[in-house]
Amino acid sequence: MDADVAMCGDTTRARVRDAAAPPSAQRRDALLMCAPDYFGVDYIINPWMENQVGRATLSRARAQWENLRSKLAAHGDIAFVAPTPGLPDMVFTANAGLAIGDKAVVSRFHARERRPEERLFCDWFETQGYAIAPWPENVPFEGAGDALVDPARDIVWCGHGWRSGAEAPKHLERIFARRTIALKLVDPRFYHLDTCFCPLSGGWLIYYPAAFDIASQEAIRAIVPVEKRIEVGEKDALAFACNAIERAGRIFLNACSDELRARLTDSGFTPVVTPLSEFMKAGGAAKCLTLRLPGAARQVMPRG
Ligand code: ARG
Repeated sequence: MDADVAMCGDTTRARVRDAAAPPSAQRRDALLMCAPDYFGVDYIINPWMENQVGRATLSRARAQWENLRSKLAAHGDIAFVAPTPGLPDMVFTANAGLAIGDKAVVSRFHARERRPEERLFCDWFETQGYAIAPWPENVPFEGAGDALVDPARDIVWCGHGWRSGAEAPKHLERIFARRTIALKLVDPRFYHLDTCFCPLSGGWLIYYPAAFDIASQEAIRAIVPVEKRIEVGEKDALAFACNAIERAGRIFLNACSDELRARLTDSGFTPVVTPLSEFMKAGGAAKCLTLRLPGAARQVMPRG
């Protein structure tokens, strides 16, 4: 086993897995999801959860999640990680970690309540044959919630300020050998980068500028040309329009104003609205419910 690979499970299982693992060329692009069997708002770790403890309706959450899953499944592979009792936020797989190719970093949650998820996500990555890069104990990092691979540029956009530490981008740059752009988040309602920033194919970007400090706003403008920047107003931002998933030219999102719809359509995208009100009560929407696995999941596991 490579000395630079961190292990979260037992080595026997890892050895068996290595022997059986097909070459990485067989990896396919997929999204990782986790069924909301144990979803709920059980504690408060972001402003959206205030006054919402016990208020999410599970049957509605299941229907909304299933609607998102089936829409996404029509346009590509979905992999699943088993939900676990007592971990209501595990449904937000964006926070499992960051995976690029064969390599993965597992999140080190800032939120104490979510730390038990680390081992489960680590096990999942390991079972799928990912090389898990070691991560420093004292640097919080909440995965693809705060680290977004730009599909059109060879960079990783990294948010910090609320959940992931300011040191996280530097470590990601070293591990994945990709340039990272650190963006400081300043509005507590947009506590993860993916709540207010969504790089799209073709170099487009949907984002809510006021969620970032001035230097970060400038950094974004220096990289993304004005004609490719789709700036949303507060209303769309608060409906988590930036928390979007792009698949096959479609943009899946919780809600979309007429203005944003027109802007996306003019830019060549097709917005697909999938309401996710129950997950909004926990501070998450479409993008948070998925983890992009670029050239990923070795085998797509059946649900269950
Ligand atoms: N309640 C979850 C938390 O605060 C929501 C996570 C949303 N995930 C995301 N990628 N933005 O951690």
